[in-house]
Amino acid sequence: MPDNKPDITSLFEPKSVAIVGASHEPSKIGYKILENVIRGGYSGKVYPVNPKGGEILGYRVYKSILEIEDAIDLACISIPAPFVFEAVQQCASRGVKYLAIITSGFSEVGNISEERRIVEFARAHGMRVLGPNIFGIYSANASLNATFGPAQIRKGNVGIITQSGALGIAMMGKTQSENIGLSAIISIGNKSDIDETDLLEYLGSEQNTRVILMYIEGVKNGEKLVDALKKITKTKTVIVIKSGRSRRGAIAAASHTGSLAGEDNVFSDIMRQCGVIRCETISEALNLSKTVPELALPSGENTVIITNGGGVGVLAADASEKYGVNLYSDYPKLKSLFQDCVPQFGSTKNPVDLTGQATIQNYRDALKKALEADEISSVICVACETALFDVEGYADLIKNSFDQYRHKKPIVFSLFGGKKADECIAILRKDGIPVFHDVYDAVFCLGGLYRQLGNLKKPQSAEREVMVDKARIQEIIEIARRDGRRFLLSAEAHAILEAAGIPAPESRIARNLEEAVAFAEEIGYPVVLKVVSKQIIHKSDVGGVALDILNKEEVIDAYQSIINSCRQHMPDAHIEGVEICEMVEPGIEVIVGARIDPSFGPVVMFGLGGIYVEVMKDVAFRAAPVTPGEAVEMISEVKGYPLLLGVRGEKKKDINSIVDCILKMGMIINECREISDIEINPLVVYDDGEGARAVDARIILSNKEVKK
Ligand code: COA
Repeated sequence: MPDNKPDITSLFEPKSVAIVGASHEPSKIGYKILENVIRGGYSGKVYPVNPKGGEILGYRVYKSILEIEDAIDLACISIPAPFVFEAVQQCASRGVKYLAIITSGFSEVGNISEERRIVEFARAHGMRVLGPNIFGIYSANASLNATFGPAQIRKGNVGIITQSGALGIAMMGKTQSENIGLSAIISIGNKSDIDETDLLEYLGSEQNTRVILMYIEGVKNGEKLVDALKKITKTKTVIVIKSGRSRRGAIAAASHTGSLAGEDNVFSDIMRQCGVIRCETISEALNLSKTVPELALPSGENTVIITNGGGVGVLAADASEKYGVNLYSDYPKLKSLFQDCVPQFGSTKNPVDLTGQATIQNYRDALKKALEADEISSVICVACETALFDVEGYADLIKNSFDQYRHKKPIVFSLFGGKKADECIAILRKDGIPVFHDVYDAVFCLGGLYRQLGNLKKPQSAEREVMVDKARIQEIIEIARRDGRRFLLSAEAHAILEAAGIPAPESRIARNLEEAVAFAEEIGYPVVLKVVSKQIIHKSDVGGVALDILNKEEVIDAYQSIINSCRQHMPDAHIEGVEICEMVEPGIEVIVGARIDPSFGPVVMFGLGGIYVEVMKDVAFRAAPVTPGEAVEMISEVKGYPLLLGVRGEKKKDINSIVDCILKMGMIINECREISDIEINPLVVYDDGEGARAVDARIILSNKEVKK
């Protein structure tokens, strides 16, 4: 397809819009879209198209797109699927730039060829396609509501990209009832051409958008998405909800839009790598979207909780730990700040507990101290409604303190109680004040701000140049390809590690007994002997491996017993020799893998070996290539990390050599696209400064030759 893409601004800020299928019938989608465009205040030119002609809502209706003489930036198509291609052809002849195809009945129901035909034609004629199977596009910059969702949309700072149409329309409704202003909301439907990354590129540079919320079911071009997200999260908060977390959810998502939901843990880890906040629920995502634009970013890491109840204070502290909010713990300073506002039986330790008989004056004093103290960077103010508690007074205090300090210091509130409390919360939330029933919701939003702060402060980890001998790796791959093999032999895998400079035990292949003895003597005891045969994949099962061989006599015995046992178990196998390998000293066993993920392309994986990976699935993923900083992050993310730092008096392990191995594996998988899977298991890691050894490596080639 030629890459003659029109500027994406023509989609979000079109100067003219044609509505193909603008119906005379108010109950139809084509009517609703036209009505929303007109009533939404769009100031560009509007061209309804319908073969019946006439007039709709006071606008002249064109019988065909061909009748329109002016240039058309965007055509919204809402006619039955069998007629769409012809309409697209007509759009091409009128020089339309963007097509928003509302119509369903394409790849999501198996009609892939028609969808492909439309997209190929459109792209060949310089047009780009949003959809099909979408509810349309709303863009605040153009006051354009080309959707069949709600007529009135509040303008604001949140841009939404959604793969599910129905959910998107519901979200539009919800943002209205929650008073969340939108900069845009776009449905991507089947993503036949324009995908979430194309839209991200606009929203990432659009000035009014401060938060981008994405609902995704499956990622098709993850490499492009990762690049865009890494850049955008430096300046904006990006929130993602991805369905398909559960196995059942993944099946439903896959059948929903015809795209495959990627492996969920890979998705989560890569979103973290990109600085994206993944939300579990829509309400979490909307709470965060509403809160982030209202609050200043914290200046530091010291948060204080103010409460009138021990229980809810502890819940707030638990939530803080869960969502990465650091509680201020300079107790003498806390005491000097808060002792005048706290009754004797309260506590100035964080949470600052004003006790169940706290008055509004106590809250006012404590809040003022917290909001004015330079040492404190953010505040969580929580209250439980008791018989003594003045709920309305608390609501007034919330409003006043929020108005006064919102641009100086982030503050979130929670009020847990009955009907009166609910009413106050509803009123305050209408004014955009971050007040919640549940303290976890309040702390989650503050945690979101800290994530954003983390993104901004994250040091730019310098790329480290890792040298990998690509030509040598390609030579080895070609030998396997010539043999028609996708699985590399252990000696080949060993040679690839060598080409990447990943330290592996010394090894030679002996063609006869004399060579076996000579090589063992050269390498030094103890050694390991392993059969070499293309036909024998599971060597131990056929007696093809002998460990811990200590001297010449044992080499002779082991060599003969391996040859005899393999001949007996697999008489047809061609035995090329026996590999004599240095026996590796014990250390901590870890796994470093890399593969081509169906959604994200090249990814690397790290985990501790044995039960940690097999039973606990304690692994971390990142999109490759990774920076040294990202490699360190993934190592420290696994639950077994303390074992690498040294427990029970053991020394710290050589984490640098794991980082080095991760970088090289990332480089191999990224640069040598014919390799689909490479795994070192185990990489034995020694004490700090003493390196690591890749004991075994498994390498699989892709089933087709892929060029980068
Ligand atoms: N150019 C312009 N107008 C055309 C046309 C053409 N080539 N062919 C037909 N029309 C007109 C029709 O005359 C009709 O107007 P009228 O009501 O004034 O007679 C109008 O377009 C709509 O056509 P109609 O056949 O009545 O279809 P419809 O409105 O019942 O359904 C869709 C059309 C696109 C809404 C329907 O096919 C569809 O896909 N629905 C699902 C949409 C959806 O859910 N999308 C995903 C959301 S998340």
